[in-house]
Amino acid sequence: MKNNKLKDILQNALGTIEKALSLDALINIKNTYLSKKSELMGMMSKIGELPPEERKEFGQEVNEVKTTIAASLDEKMAELSEKEMAEKLKKEEIDISLPSRSLTVGGRNPFHIIKDEMIDVFLGMGFEVADGPEVESDEFNFELLNIPKDHPARDMQDTFYIDKNTLLRTHTSPVQAHVMAEKKGEAIRVICPGKTYRRDDDDATHSHQFAQIEGLVVDKDINIGHLKATLELFAQRMFGEKRKIRLRSSYFPFTEPSVEVDIDCANCGGKGCSMCKGTGYIEILGGGMVHPNVLKMNGYDPEVYSGFAFGIGIERVAILRYGIDDIRRFYQNDVRFLHQFRKKI
Ligand code: PHE
Repeated sequence: MKNNKLKDILQNALGTIEKALSLDALINIKNTYLSKKSELMGMMSKIGELPPEERKEFGQEVNEVKTTIAASLDEKMAELSEKEMAEKLKKEEIDISLPSRSLTVGGRNPFHIIKDEMIDVFLGMGFEVADGPEVESDEFNFELLNIPKDHPARDMQDTFYIDKNTLLRTHTSPVQAHVMAEKKGEAIRVICPGKTYRRDDDDATHSHQFAQIEGLVVDKDINIGHLKATLELFAQRMFGEKRKIRLRSSYFPFTEPSVEVDIDCANCGGKGCSMCKGTGYIEILGGGMVHPNVLKMNGYDPEVYSGFAFGIGIERVAILRYGIDDIRRFYQNDVRFLHQFRKKI
């Protein structure tokens, strides 16, 4: 290389590149030596001032200096990035021998835990899940269930009316009529979980909104033994293999005979304690054989078909399973309550 100034530039550049300790430093070096404002590029722009015979050689030398510096920068850049990566990996190394922090996931509301369990029990017995609207017509909520207008049983289930003929359903039983309309004379084995509403004043055991699981079986030769066996198996799955149930006679306009179902108290085994208020039994649901009028009104011949139905309060089952003292806890979203049902992993 003839031009001494170029030689100096090259040597200086290679020297600083060699000593550079970081990628940032290399970027600065690149700016100093190769940017448009660099000395090297300044010299290049003055090529026109040289005598013509020297121009070619000078141009080649500038180019050589430029490419040599660029190649050296690239090489150093590769070397430093590899080093930086290795250091970063070392710094971020995880000591897998340390005990981990325990992870907590949010708690499911016990209402949903129990609802899903109940549904599973019935799915296991071959029931299908059916659905119906929460805003119902008077016809479905009452009339098709053998509760005509002015029937005194309507007083037991006052609710929120949208207009004269539309209301928030007071129970999941209207789904019975929807399913019968849909199945048009075929055999039925469904459950319907869902929200229900009543004009109750809220207190520890009442809520204006709560949930039920309705059950309906319609087929030839269905008798009350099927109802009892189904509900006893349900009670055992939910409250323990030893549970027994007791049917007490009751009244619902849409079932005949109607029953109230009690389970023997899991706490005292039937001897009587504070949980069962000394009776040995705890009431959990209502049910009965589908009333012939209901079958007839919904397109099933009661001479050929018979069936049973039941309605279980979901909160009631959850309250009994977990010993919850107030139904309002399910809806208040108090984390101190919900955290008790949180899973640790
Ligand atoms: N619908 C009734 C209630 O809410 C329960 C029930 C359902 C009774 C099905 C008999 C048959 O009180």
